[in-house]
Amino acid sequence: MSVKILAIETSCDETAAAVIGEKERKPLILSNVVSSQIDIHNKYGGVVPEVAARAHIENILPVIEEALRNGKTKLENIDYIAVTKGPGLVGSLIVGLETAKALAISKEIPLVLVNHLEGHLYANFNNQTKMNFPIVSLIVSGGHTLLLYSKDHLSYEVVGSTKDDAAGEAFDKAAKILGLPYPGGPSIAKAAEKGDDSKYEFPIIDLTPAPYRNDRGFLEYPQASLDFSFSGLKTALLSKVKIQKEMTEEVVAGLAASFQKAIVDNIVKNAILAIGRYRPKTFVLSGGVAANKLLRKKLETEIRKKFPKTNFVVPPFNLCTDNAAMIGIAAYFRIKKEKFLEQEAVPEPNLKIV
Ligand code: KG4
Ligand code: ZN
Repeated sequence: MSVKILAIETSCDETAAAVIGEKERKPLILSNVVSSQIDIHNKYGGVVPEVAARAHIENILPVIEEALRNGKTKLENIDYIAVTKGPGLVGSLIVGLETAKALAISKEIPLVLVNHLEGHLYANFNNQTKMNFPIVSLIVSGGHTLLLYSKDHLSYEVVGSTKDDAAGEAFDKAAKILGLPYPGGPSIAKAAEKGDDSKYEFPIIDLTPAPYRNDRGFLEYPQASLDFSFSGLKTALLSKVKIQKEMTEEVVAGLAASFQKAIVDNIVKNAILAIGRYRPKTFVLSGGVAANKLLRKKLETEIRKKFPKTNFVVPPFNLCTDNAAMIGIAAYFRIKKEKFLEQEAVPEPNLKIV
């Protein structure tokens, strides 16, 4: 019999619930409801944790009811409740977790805990047929920038991560510097449409350690680093803004386009290095920044050109940014593989993927 999962996600500023069913032994999204708090946080220029938690409390039950209604199902027909345990904001996570626990206890439905980052990655397993292992995946979100190598489902080796800001965080901070609204990624992408991306120069960051002399006096060259650093690009942007006479629309557009190109080029460089090193059958992009059109296009073009045998996969736009369908899909695989997170059903703001 096919399985039915109610998934709940409240790790940051989206209150989300989804119903996941099953078709031909693959997860199937029956409904996916996201109540965004962007308008609430916009006036503060970013997410205010206490405000986010309060909005989750107000939204969570109507959002769950809508997800069940859209999925043409009732709580009585749900086999599992999946919920994000972390990483995320503790006050936000707790609303989702406590709601999920209350429903699970009162209706005697088993609870499945999900790592938010695993959720982002598993947004790609929505009915995909070309997801062959080994997989190299890149999660680029507001809080994380992770390059992972997976030989099989639910197993990860971290092969690259950010040393400072996450990619989405860099977009958000850059937007603030340019006076553009929150969230920064979409507003920078929009401003960039009218700008010349060769107008301002930003560096390509290489964190590979310098060559060193070994014990016998020979020069040794360390392997190229797959780690990221974005805070220097932000500082470079700030110094370019400071020397402008006037922040005209044209200047902002040029800076936005050049900054976006720099972030994308830095990400693509490490992704291509990782594919060359690990030779995966599939390369998977995910997370909020995966909604960036330039990043999607450049990565696909470079992978096609340099590694035509590697399949490039990215979720549809609505499954890139936070949603509960991705949490339900990750839970689906945890259920099928009978491999569950062993921790307690309490929030873990810094939960790691491995
Ligand atoms: O995955 P996500 O929804 O939340 C986290 O888990 O953090 O990612 C949100 C991030 C924000 O930093 C936002 O600016 C960025 O994703 N983002 C984008 C775009 N859409 C959202 N960045 C670049 N281009 C976009 N189109
Ligand atoms: Zn996220």
